[in-house]
Amino acid sequence: MSTIAPVQAHAPHLACGSEALRALFPALARTTYLSICDKTILADPVRGSVETFLDRLAQASANRVDHEEMVTASRRKFARLVGAGEDEIAVMRNVSDGINSIATAFPLAEGDNVLLALGAEHPNNIYPWLHQQRRGIELRNIPASEGHIDVGALVSAMDARTRLVSVASVSFAPGERTDLMALGTECRKRGIFLLVDGVQSAGILHHDFGQEPIDGFASSTSKGLLGLYGYGFLYVRRAWLDRLMPVHMSRTGVSADNDDASAMGDLRYTPRPDAQRFELGSYNLAGAYAADAALDLILGLGTKAIEAHVLALAEELREGLQRLGLPVFIPRLPAHLVTVGTVDAGGHGYSTDPVITRYHGRLADAGIVSTIRRGQLRMGLHAYSNRADIEAVLQCVGRS
Ligand SMILES: Cc1ncc(COP(=O)(O)O)c(C=O)c1O
Repeated sequence: MSTIAPVQAHAPHLACGSEALRALFPALARTTYLSICDKTILADPVRGSVETFLDRLAQASANRVDHEEMVTASRRKFARLVGAGEDEIAVMRNVSDGINSIATAFPLAEGDNVLLALGAEHPNNIYPWLHQQRRGIELRNIPASEGHIDVGALVSAMDARTRLVSVASVSFAPGERTDLMALGTECRKRGIFLLVDGVQSAGILHHDFGQEPIDGFASSTSKGLLGLYGYGFLYVRRAWLDRLMPVHMSRTGVSADNDDASAMGDLRYTPRPDAQRFELGSYNLAGAYAADAALDLILGLGTKAIEAHVLALAEELREGLQRLGLPVFIPRLPAHLVTVGTVDAGGHGYSTDPVITRYHGRLADAGIVSTIRRGQLRMGLHAYSNRADIEAVLQCVGRS
């Protein structure tokens, strides 16, 4: 039993785009924020939860077990968010942590292959796999023309030695959404593990792993999950858990019949049967407190409602920018990232196209926060975005 007062849960009666919701994000009072695809903006209840953690630390008013209730609560809430069992969720630091946990635990033998579209993925979903080539596996690169993840090409590349496919749910640029239903169905037929880098969609687009045929999903809380850097989640489908043996191990990953964190017991140990076998040592507790409050907010809004809201606004923004003659990227599946310009005409934070550079600067001067990735101007939407944000962009871009 906890001896400390619980953190005040946020009252979940807010609508997407409403002034009441926007008022929770201080940054929105001075900016039009279109950069959730880069990093989150802190909501007051999330900050409040972290401050509670800091106060408890300062006052020595909670012990480790008390603090870790927030880890447990955030794990449970993330499971609810994505339609998973609590036993299928591990707390991680970030996407890299989750992907590496699977890559290193996965039973890969020499001659097995892993499929990846190098031209569409974030480096943190590439290096973990390049590194696995040491084990004698073949990394098959599926061409991604203009950053497009071609599900048909991925399926065509599968053979009897394909063990795993790793894809982004939404690419960081040009913001393409992968057809996880189609890809997952083909993977499932062949017993192939489908791993998803979900950081661009988590907390914004609706996920239901009871329906989506995916096997792993890695995210940090530093973007759409509205939390802090250095805290995240890894989903592992229950059916795979006993085949995935973590490379690293500590007390948190071991089955024990008590929570005495400093006692060894005897030297025989059993890795936990659930996804917590991947958890390693002490937690980022500030991250857990933040995630707990942020997940209350997101669950209160509901990801079905958030998805419908952001997709409608993204469509409006694309149409408006097209009307103004801008080279807008048209995604094959509706997505909440709006990108403009040619993929790879530039890189992280810069474009070789003077038009993109000019618009990015003009938006910044007007207090509109956007990013440039792979040379494209990129704008990302979340539940707090509203039509005034879209109008502000169109007005700014349309000024002669
Ligand atoms: C698609 C994608 N994957 C991964 C990351 C980051 O990975 P990590 O959480 O390991 O820093 C980002 C953004 O920074 C991203 O956009």
